[in-house]
Amino acid sequence: MEYLPLHFKLDGSRVLVVGGGSQASNKAALLVRAGARILFVAPQISSQILALGDAHDYQTGEFEPAHLDGVSLVVAATDNAALNAAVAAAANLKGTPVNVVDSPDLCTVIFPAIIDRSPVLVSVGTGGASPVLARSIREMIEGYLPEGLGRLGQFLRETRPVLKKRFSDIQLRRKAVEKFMVGPGQELAQQGDYAAAERYLYDPEAGVISGEVYLVGAGPGDPDLLTLKALQLMQKADVILYDNLVSEAILSRARRDAQYEFVGKRSGYLSASQESINALLVRLAKSGKCVLRLKGGDPFIFGRGGEELEQLIEAGIPFQVIPGITAASGCAAYAGIPLTHRDYAQSVRFITGHPKNSKVQLPWHEFVSPGQTLVFYMGLAGLPDICKKLIAHGQSPETPVAVISKGTTPEQKMVTGSLGSIAERVLKAQLVSPTLIIVGQVVSAPSRLQGVVQ
Ligand SMILES: C[S@@+](CC[C@H](N)C(=O)[O-])C[C@H]1O[C@@H](n2cnc3c(N)ncnc32)[C@H](O)[C@@H]1O
Repeated sequence: MEYLPLHFKLDGSRVLVVGGGSQASNKAALLVRAGARILFVAPQISSQILALGDAHDYQTGEFEPAHLDGVSLVVAATDNAALNAAVAAAANLKGTPVNVVDSPDLCTVIFPAIIDRSPVLVSVGTGGASPVLARSIREMIEGYLPEGLGRLGQFLRETRPVLKKRFSDIQLRRKAVEKFMVGPGQELAQQGDYAAAERYLYDPEAGVISGEVYLVGAGPGDPDLLTLKALQLMQKADVILYDNLVSEAILSRARRDAQYEFVGKRSGYLSASQESINALLVRLAKSGKCVLRLKGGDPFIFGRGGEELEQLIEAGIPFQVIPGITAASGCAAYAGIPLTHRDYAQSVRFITGHPKNSKVQLPWHEFVSPGQTLVFYMGLAGLPDICKKLIAHGQSPETPVAVISKGTTPEQKMVTGSLGSIAERVLKAQLVSPTLIIVGQVVSAPSRLQGVVQ
C-alpha cells in the first residue's frame, strides 16, 4: 500500500494554496467544503477565488517559505513546475503534508475521488496513477449508494450516546446496530424518519419480528432502465418475487444468493392467483425477510401494486414503493415516438385493452377527441376490436397506429399502419406479447426522429 487513506479534519485549520488560477480554484472548492481557512499566494488571483470571501486570505506576490508558518496542509497548484517543486521541498523541510497538482511524485498526500454523503464519505484513490480511473470507479460505486446514506450516518451519530447508555457492553451495542442495519429501521433513517427508526435501534427485537416489502418497478425490459433505487434494493432483498415481464437480464442484476420465486402468468404453467401472492408477501415479511416484489414497468400502472399494498397495510408490514419506467414511456422512447409532441398531442391516455376487462365500460367517445395520444396496454388480442370501436366512435380510419412488441429489448419490433390497416399488418408480422399500441398523430413523427433516438 503506497498511501494510507486517512480522513483529514480541516475544520478551521489554515491551508496554504500556492496558485491563483483554475487548478487552485478546483482544489480550494474541496478545501472550503471541509471547512479550511485558506491562504492563497500567487502573483495574480482569479476573481473566482476572490469570490470565496473574507474567511480566507489572499496575498498577491511570490511564494516564500514563511507562508508555511501555521499551516496544516499545502497545495501547490501553479502551472510552473519549478515553483511547484520548490513549494513541495519547503513543505517537506517543515514536515507539512503537501499536494502538488499533476505531480504525484512530489506529493506526500493526494486528493482521492470522493462520494460525499456526509457524514458518510467514500474515497477512491489510485496512488496518483490515474485520476480518471479513480473518477470512473467513483461513478460505478456512486449508483449503488443510496442518497439517504448521509441521513443514516447522521442518525447513527446522534443516537450513539443514548445507545451507549442503554448497552454499556460494546458487544451488545455492536449487535444492536448490526440488527438495525438489516431491518426496516435503517431505511426509515435514510428517509429521515428518525423517530420511527429509533424504535428499531433501541429495541432490537422490533427489527427481528417484521421484515419489509419493496414493491419495485423493473421497467419495460432493458436492464439499463432500472432505477438506481431499484438496483440498490435488488442487492438487499432476501426473497425476490417476480413476474413474467421481468427478464433474466434484469434478474441477473439482483443479489445472487437471494431466494427467487416466479409468481407471474405464463402459458403452460399454473399461475399464482393475486390473493396467493398477497398472502405470500405477508407471510415472508412476517418471517423477518426483506421481500422484493419486482414487477414489469411501473407497479402502479396496470401492475396491481395497489392491491398488494392494501394487504401489507392491513398486516402492518412496512413497505416501500419504487416507481419504474412504464412500458408507454420506454417503448415510445425507443421507437422514437414522442407521446406528446406538441405539434400533434396535448394529452396522453393510458388505457387497458385487456379483453377480459370487457365488463368495464371504457369511455370510447372520450378517446376520439383531437390532440390526444392513446396508449393501449394488454391490447394485442383485442386489437381488431379496439380499432373498430375507435372508428365507430368517429376516429378517422386513417389515424396512425404503432404496435410495439418487446419494447426496449434487443427483440423490439414495431409495426405501423392506420386504424383501418393495423390489425391485418400485425397479424401478418406475427408480433408477440408483450405489445403496446399507440394511436394518434404522434406516430407519424418517428420517421423524422428515429435517427436521433437510440
Ligand atoms: C399487466 S401490464 C403491466 C404494465 C406495467 N406495469 C408497466 O407499467 O409497463 C402488461 C402490459 O404492459 C405492456 N408492456 C409491458 N412491457 C412491455 C414491453 N417491453 N413492450 C411492449 N409492451 C409492454 C403490454 O401491453 C403488456 O401486455
